[in-house]
Amino acid sequence: DWKMEDVLEEEIKVITGMVGPEDHVICALSGGVDSTVAATLVHKAIGERLHCVFVDNGLLRYKERERVMETFQSDLHLPVTCVDATEQFLTELKGVVDPEKKRKIIGREFINIFDSFAHKLETKLGKKPIYLVQGTLYPDVIESCPPPGSGRTHSHTIKSHHNVGGLPKDMKLKLVEPLKLLFKDEVRDLGRILNVPEAFLKRHPFPGPGLAVRVLGDVTEGNALEILRQVDEIFIQSIKEAGLYDSIWQAFAVFLPIRSVGVQGDQRTHSHVVALRAVTSQDGMTADWYNFEHKFLDGVARKICNSVRGVNRVVQDITSKPPSTIEWE
Ligand code: XMP
Repeated sequence: DWKMEDVLEEEIKVITGMVGPEDHVICALSGGVDSTVAATLVHKAIGERLHCVFVDNGLLRYKERERVMETFQSDLHLPVTCVDATEQFLTELKGVVDPEKKRKIIGREFINIFDSFAHKLETKLGKKPIYLVQGTLYPDVIESCPPPGSGRTHSHTIKSHHNVGGLPKDMKLKLVEPLKLLFKDEVRDLGRILNVPEAFLKRHPFPGPGLAVRVLGDVTEGNALEILRQVDEIFIQSIKEAGLYDSIWQAFAVFLPIRSVGVQGDQRTHSHVVALRAVTSQDGMTADWYNFEHKFLDGVARKICNSVRGVNRVVQDITSKPPSTIEWE
């Protein structure tokens, strides 16, 4: 039975005990709750010796870069450099359809960008940054490598979460993982006492590989990413307007690599199909599909087909975890 104030105090002690008074620390902000709370915590402990980087990998949601940079700068006063690496990521992902390959490529490109960020910083400071902050949570740790005696049945890696174990190799950075014993709801509580805005803390989790695991198949094909962004935004805004956002663990749209026949106006169409996924969960380890009212779903589906060019069919995912995972890839 531990209080978050104690966790905060304890963590600050751990961080200042670990990071020397002259040491510099780098952090990759994903725009999610975890890395933001981790960075805010480290910033509180060591101030301007923390250097954050936010990478636009071209796989972000609608207006995401603008929205998160605003929070980092205006609300949290975090020192953040924004790197636009869209071209680099999409070039590497061209033609790739295997989900694990996508994750590997994305993980590798992230590392390349951190590396060059760290090297530039080294030149600027005249010394090497020594530590890397990661927002790893307890479920990430056990799902990637269940501790012995945890009673968990899976002994292999289910998904290669890029934020576990993915380190810039030649930089030899040491890890600072202040959230690695916490579950998601505890991270939110910790963020609250660190004055992270409530709306930001309540954002649904978003996977590191971003829309790459929500566009099934080749993410660079046609305008899949742009279609997905528009569909996802309509779905999320509708959920917010209906007052349902906080009752849902994660909601998102998925772009399917198929076409279906439709009729729009007088025209027969052969267009894209999108799936809507919403689940409730405590920690992401298991999840139940969310049962929307039919009227709500009807409104969302109509809005999507009426306003997103290239989509003529909307389906809903009604499986829980297990047997499905939350993401489709
Ligand atoms: P699954 O799909 O495995 O997802 O049921 C459980 C939670 O993890 C997120 N997720 C990821 N997060 N890198 C991440 O940082 C990944 O590769 C990844 N894959 C899944 C997912 O969104 C859900 O919250």
